[in-house]
Amino acid sequence: MTRINIGLLGLGTVGSGIVNILQRKRPQLAALDLHITRAAVRNLYPKRQALYPDIELTTSAVSITQDPDIDVVIEVMGGVKDTYPLLVNALKHGKHVVSANKDLLSEYGPELSKLAQQNHVGLYYEAAVTGAIPILHVLAQSYAGDKITRVAGIVNGTSNYILTQMVREGRGYQEALAAAQELGFAEADPTNDVEGFDAAYKLLILSRFAFGMTPKLADVKRQGITTLQSGDFAAARHFGYTLKPLAVGMLRAEQLDLRVGPYLVSPNHAFSSVIYENNAVVVDSLNTKEIMLSGPGAGSLPTANSIISDLVTIGTAIHNGIEPAPFTSLVAPTAICSPDRSVAARLIALKTSPEHFAELRGQLGITYTKPYVEDGVPYNC
Ligand SMILES: NC(=O)c1ccc[n+]([C@@H]2O[C@H](COP(=O)([O-])OP(=O)(O)OC[C@H]3O[C@@H](n4cnc5c(N)ncnc54)[C@H](OP(=O)(O)O)[C@@H]3O)[C@@H](O)[C@H]2O)c1
Repeated sequence: MTRINIGLLGLGTVGSGIVNILQRKRPQLAALDLHITRAAVRNLYPKRQALYPDIELTTSAVSITQDPDIDVVIEVMGGVKDTYPLLVNALKHGKHVVSANKDLLSEYGPELSKLAQQNHVGLYYEAAVTGAIPILHVLAQSYAGDKITRVAGIVNGTSNYILTQMVREGRGYQEALAAAQELGFAEADPTNDVEGFDAAYKLLILSRFAFGMTPKLADVKRQGITTLQSGDFAAARHFGYTLKPLAVGMLRAEQLDLRVGPYLVSPNHAFSSVIYENNAVVVDSLNTKEIMLSGPGAGSLPTANSIISDLVTIGTAIHNGIEPAPFTSLVAPTAICSPDRSVAARLIALKTSPEHFAELRGQLGITYTKPYVEDGVPYNC
């Protein structure tokens, strides 16, 4: 039987989850003969090494990517600038690679996939999008006879947590952010999450798997959740909607329209029940209409679970003596929707006099209005 040696780049939240699952599932995974033999960390001290008697810890990540005894490199250290050359090095040295790094893969995914194929190895990254939810495998494998027309998701747990607090508990943005930070759902600098960059990165990866296209960050119309005000929530409530942070990619006349931002969601739609830090992705297609997957989008074991699934795919291919298939083989020319074709419904809440509103209504071409009073203040929507 071929023994498979694994090198971890990173042994933090996700890395320790991988070690934990492989230890617990050893009997069930025995046929694959998987062994984590080495792991790279930033801070190495004797007590830390003592916690992992079977794993050689090192501060030299590159020594793992070119170690002739390592078969699979699992990258869970994050970052782009220092990590990209490590993955290139691993692939060039004939290592199969599994990664959870959406920042890196949204930018360099196509290039690294090509390099993996040139070196006859696998490159899988299910954990990079929505943690535990196996959306990339589903998109890659379950739509061969179908055509996806839209993929939409709550793909950033931090902004979903904050908006849920603001909608359900009436908290202000700063208060909701502080609560998210206290619980570890938001980083000290939350810009990536609350300004929609993280969701945009994930949407780029989803677009490759759903449509075969390779859009760039600049192709995403991105809006964060930081500018939302109490009036926005009041207006949404008045019309019976809730607010959700969505990433949406859809085809309009075969051109891709990509948006990230807060959306009004009907209480009848399944997205409205995806609350706090949870994630969900809805896929619309010609044959199957709407399918939704939901679950934890982050966390040690949920994310590590997706990594193990990729590892099993690679391990099975190794034992069968075959090259792992490309993660996705869908390829289509990238065509981005021009701004004049990109139409979206908007809810505009205005606090204004009836006379001025009548004037604005004509000027803006507003077709439907509903006046209401919130806390004694008249609004026109
Ligand atoms: N956490 C989640 O729920 C989650 C979900 C989905 C995807 N991801 C992705 O998974 C990746 C890892 O996330 P994480 O939460 O596990 O991060 P983390 O807890 O900060 O762990 C990072 C690990 O990498 C090590 N490391 C960092 N730079 C290094 C370097 N230059 N050389 C050697 N080791 C280095 C760190 O060493 P020290 O321990 O010594 O500092 C640490 O063990 C990221 O790409 C993240 O976006 C995470």
